Amino acid sequence: MKLGVNIDHVATLRQQRGTEYPSPLEAAALCEQAGADGITIHLREDRRHIQDADLHGLRQALQIPLNLEMANSPGIVDIAVATRPDEVCLVPERRQELTTEGGLEVAGQQEALQPTVARLKDAGIRVSLFIEPSIRQLEAAVKLGAPVVELHTGRYCNLSGEAREVELLRIVGAARHGHQIGLQINAGHGLNYENLPEFLNTVPHLDTLNIGHSIVARAVMVGMARAVREMKDLIQ
Ligand code: PXP
Repeated sequence: MKLGVNIDHVATLRQQRGTEYPSPLEAAALCEQAGADGITIHLREDRRHIQDADLHGLRQALQIPLNLEMANSPGIVDIAVATRPDEVCLVPERRQELTTEGGLEVAGQQEALQPTVARLKDAGIRVSLFIEPSIRQLEAAVKLGAPVVELHTGRYCNLSGEAREVELLRIVGAARHGHQIGLQINAGHGLNYENLPEFLNTVPHLDTLNIGHSIVARAVMVGMARAVREMKDLIQ
């Protein structure tokens, strides 16, 4: 199983003061050296953390795959096609949200998503869709021709007690079904050093986990390299 490290919040720290540091490029290099299998960034329409220059810099410097999270909006799609990250993960995006809330409504937006998925695929970019763990969304992803889905784990991570168990089983069901219908199954959002062991012991067929906030938060205490190594050790 692979670890994609989301370094958005290195940029959050920089943007918060308008300084030139800390550098997402430097952070990505440390992640790479520490064994990360990929780097994930979200170029938001409001550019609240990652900037266009970060995307270009990472595209040139990285040896490991770059996964660009983005909304299905024309300006951003143009940027993706011009920059050609290895993978694009389409996510829903709202200006006011603290972080991505909920999965992409793939089933109800086939018409709007079809040209974007086709354009990205034509540009040689692997397309992933960030979805709720539901059969309806999985089937819609296959219909769209996306080879990868990322199952939204945010709800599971925020719940407790019985509701958490129910959500975990929903993710297990989605991972099984998605695998059966030929999708690569990734997962992410809210995963951390505490909740990961239970998650990994229960959910089958996982290919890549995209984890950001908890790793960057841990890096503040122990450094980026150790924070990534600790997460890799958990996964392995
Ligand atoms: N995957 C997707 C699609 C996301 O939008 C995010 C948050 O940017 C993550 C993974 C990482 O989530 P977290 O920062 O909670 O680990």
